[in-house]
Amino acid sequence: MSSTVISNIATLVTNDPSPDGSSPLGPVRDAAVVIEDDRVVWTGESSKAPATDNRVDAGGRAVLPGFVDSHSHLVFAGDRTEEFNARMSGRAYSAGGIRTTVAATRAADDADLEANLVRLLDEALRQGTTTFETKSGYGLTVEDEARALRLAARHTDEVTYLGAHVVAPEYAEDPAGYVALVTGEMLDACAPHARWIDVFCEKGAFDGDQARAILTAGKARGLHPRVHANQLSYGPGVRLAVELDAASADHCTHLTEADVDALADGNTVATLLPGAEFSTRAEWPDARRLLDAGVTVALSTDCNPGSSFTSSVPFCIALAVREMGMTPDEAVWAATAGGAAALRRDDIGRLAPGAYADLTLLDAPSHVHLAYRPGVPLVAGVWRRGVRRV
Ligand code: NIG
Ligand code: FE
Repeated sequence: MSSTVISNIATLVTNDPSPDGSSPLGPVRDAAVVIEDDRVVWTGESSKAPATDNRVDAGGRAVLPGFVDSHSHLVFAGDRTEEFNARMSGRAYSAGGIRTTVAATRAADDADLEANLVRLLDEALRQGTTTFETKSGYGLTVEDEARALRLAARHTDEVTYLGAHVVAPEYAEDPAGYVALVTGEMLDACAPHARWIDVFCEKGAFDGDQARAILTAGKARGLHPRVHANQLSYGPGVRLAVELDAASADHCTHLTEADVDALADGNTVATLLPGAEFSTRAEWPDARRLLDAGVTVALSTDCNPGSSFTSSVPFCIALAVREMGMTPDEAVWAATAGGAAALRRDDIGRLAPGAYADLTLLDAPSHVHLAYRPGVPLVAGVWRRGVRRV
């Protein structure tokens, strides 16, 4: 067993709340963290750190848990530069653009799809992401959905079946037939490769009844629900997510008081995805309102080629602080512990004995710089499962 101490850390974000409750981040000043194999075994003041085989000097900089990006769509081919360019020149985003990526993805071979996935994962890792969830949803046939999940499962445990992204073009005149496929033959082919099931519950995608049927069928096959909810308009998605004990309701941009109350009373995390509002010039989700109501909030990238082509959690943190009423502490918590909660995990998103040694070293003395210095590449080191990767 080999042990390493990372010492001389100006600010160590542990996400163990400080005893006085003043910060959910439980920051330790002049800190050290000790790693043994793939786990954290000790955190505390540098001067009290136990002896280890190896030593890394953090140089008076900040260390925080690796980011947990609990919402992305990374198995796709092609890009949608033209759509983005047109939208930024005045045309609104509609769910229909998804079909452009479906055509490109179906036409791609496995090697190209996986190469694109790996390229994006490397990009995310260099920006401090150590755990990511990713979805199918650009295949929309039995074979293409199963293929996307199989490729994703080579790179993460957090794989989500999103056959219900939009109705497949072949079923444009028969949406009920497509729901039958998603809950039948496609589910049979996909369930072995996934942990989660997701539905885009939105006008132009799937309504509340269809979403309920799809999520319920997935649950019966052992998949746990998460929902694309209330992104483009008000609707039933958030309340359905809470009712079905989904781990997360994602987007949460258009919420009624009843939606906020349901989230506050339930066990479902609200995952906010400001890259999507940025890239579609849409109204920002109101994180302040959710936090003040006692809702658990996560922040993720939604990385996809249409509505949010960013793999950068630091960028999302900066947006959330500037545009969504979050404090820097709240945004950093949401992108680490919040993401872990949205995946119902307690072995990531925090730095305490027993947790995975997934850490990000910043080229800055504190985590606040993630919002204070937007757009600056501050990630100076990344450990994943105890191994330095950046
Ligand atoms: O999360 N909302 C649905 N899915 C994606 C958009 C995907 C796309 O435009 O290709 C989202 O924003
Ligand atoms: Fe999404």
